[in-house]
Amino acid sequence: MARSCLSVILAAGEGTRMQSELPKVLHKIGGLPLVCHSIRAAEAAKCGDMALILGCGAEAIQEEIGKYSSKITVFEQNQRLGTAHAVLCAEKLLQKKYDDILIIFGDTPLIRPQILTEARKRLRLGADIVVSGFYAEDPSGYGRLAEKNGKLIKIIEEKDATPQEKKINLCNGGLMAVKGAHILSLLRAVGNHNAKGEYYLTDIIAAAAQRGLHMQVMEIAQEDIIGVNSRAELAAAEALWQRRKRREMMAAGISLQDPGTVYFSYDTRIAADVFIEPHVFFGLGVKIAEQAHIRAFSYIEGTYIGRNAVIGPYARLRPQSRLGKNVRIGNFCEIKQAEIADNVKINHLAYMGNVEIGAESNIGAGAVSCNYDGFNKEKITMGAEAFIGSNSSLVAPLHIGRGAYIASGSVITDNVGDDDLAFGRARQVNKTGGGKKLKRRLALKAKEK
Ligand code: UD1
Ligand code: MG
Repeated sequence: MARSCLSVILAAGEGTRMQSELPKVLHKIGGLPLVCHSIRAAEAAKCGDMALILGCGAEAIQEEIGKYSSKITVFEQNQRLGTAHAVLCAEKLLQKKYDDILIIFGDTPLIRPQILTEARKRLRLGADIVVSGFYAEDPSGYGRLAEKNGKLIKIIEEKDATPQEKKINLCNGGLMAVKGAHILSLLRAVGNHNAKGEYYLTDIIAAAAQRGLHMQVMEIAQEDIIGVNSRAELAAAEALWQRRKRREMMAAGISLQDPGTVYFSYDTRIAADVFIEPHVFFGLGVKIAEQAHIRAFSYIEGTYIGRNAVIGPYARLRPQSRLGKNVRIGNFCEIKQAEIADNVKINHLAYMGNVEIGAESNIGAGAVSCNYDGFNKEKITMGAEAFIGSNSSLVAPLHIGRGAYIASGSVITDNVGDDDLAFGRARQVNKTGGGKKLKRRLALKAKEK
C-alpha cells in the first residue's frame, strides 16, 4: 500500500532583508511566488497532504497562494521561535499518524520533485530520518552535519559552532524527511538553549541519535537548495531557475538561438520545433503551438500562438489573445484581447485590442482599433478576408463585414457590410500650380516680418 505523507512547508520567516512591504514568500521567480515553487514540487512528487506555516500577514499570503494551489492547510506561527517550533505549529496534522513527514523550506524555489521522492524512498527502505546535505566550499551560514564513525550524530548551527566544528564543510540543506511515528516526540525534545534562543529543527538529530534511530545524509546539489533572503539572492535564484527552464525547453525540442537572453514564466508551454530568436520575454499564460517562429525583442503574455505563426521582431502580445495558424504579427504591433483567426496578417505598427478578426484578413500598417472612449471598452468584429487600409482608425463598437475593404487613412465609425468598400476621409483636392503660388506668398510674408 502506498505510504501516506504530510509535507510541512515552513514560510513564517520575516524576510526583513528583502526590505519589502511584500512578505518574502510572495516575491516571485518565473512569475510564481517563492513558496509556490516548494508547494508545486511537493505536488509534482505526490507528497500527500500539505501544511503551510505562515507568520504575520498569513491571510493575505494565503489568499495569494490560493490562486495557484488549493488543498493546503495553513497554520499560523504567531511568534518566530525557530524551525522546530514552526513545524510543531502543524501539530494537529502531525498527530494523524502519517507514514512520512517531509519538511520543506518555503524559500528554496529550486527544490526538485525528484529530491523529495528520493528522500521518501529512503524512509521506505528503512531510514528513520533523511537529512539533505551538500559539501560547500564556503560553508559559513549553514548548519554543519557532524558525523562520528560515518554516522550522523548532530547538526550544529553556525552561531553555536566551535572553531573546529566550523571547519566541517558538509552542510544542512534544510530539507528533511522523518518517519511520522517519531516526529512529535522528537520535536518535543527540542529546547532553546542556544545562541539564538530558538527551537532549532536541527536539534532533532542529536535527540534521534541518542535514541539510536537510523539516520541518513542524502547528498544534493547546493544549487537545488539555495535559499532566498535578499534581493540579490532572489535575482541569483531567478537566474538559476531561468537557466534550468531554458535547458528543459531545449531538451523538449525548442530552439533558442541565444538561450541566455530568453525569459520564461513557470507556466510557459511551448511545443516542439518552435524557434525563438534572442531577447524574448514570456510573461504568464503563454502557449505556443508547433513550428511557430518568435522573432527577436518580442514581449508576450497571456496569449495562445497557433501553429506556424510568425511573431515579431518587436511584437507585444497582451493577455486574452488567441492567434490562429500562420498568423503574422510584425514589428511594433500591439495585440490585446484579440481573437485572430488563421492566416491573418498584421505586419507593421498596428494596435488591435478588443477585436475579433476573421481568417485571411489583412490589417495595414499603422491601423488602430479605437476601443476605449475614456470610460468604456467596446469591441470590433471583422469577417474573414477583410482588408484594412494603412493608417485607418476603427472606432468601436464596430462590425466590418466579410471581404470588406477599408480605404487607407479612414476613420471608420459605422458598420461596413460584406464585400463593401468604405472611405472615411476627406476627398483630395489638387490645384494646378498651387504649390508654387503658396510658397511665394509665404516667402513674402516672412520678409515683411
Ligand atoms: C536553516 C537551518 C540550517 C541550514 C539552513 C539551510 C535550522 C535551525 N537551521 O537555517 O541548519 O543549513 O536552514 O538553508 O533549521 N521559519 C519559520 N519559523 C521560524 C523560523 C524559520 O517558519 O520560526 C522558516 C523560514 O521562513 C524559512 C525556514 O524556516 O523558510 C528556514 O529558516 P531560516 O531562518 O532561513 O533558517 P537558516 O538560518 O537559514
Ligand atoms: Mg535560510
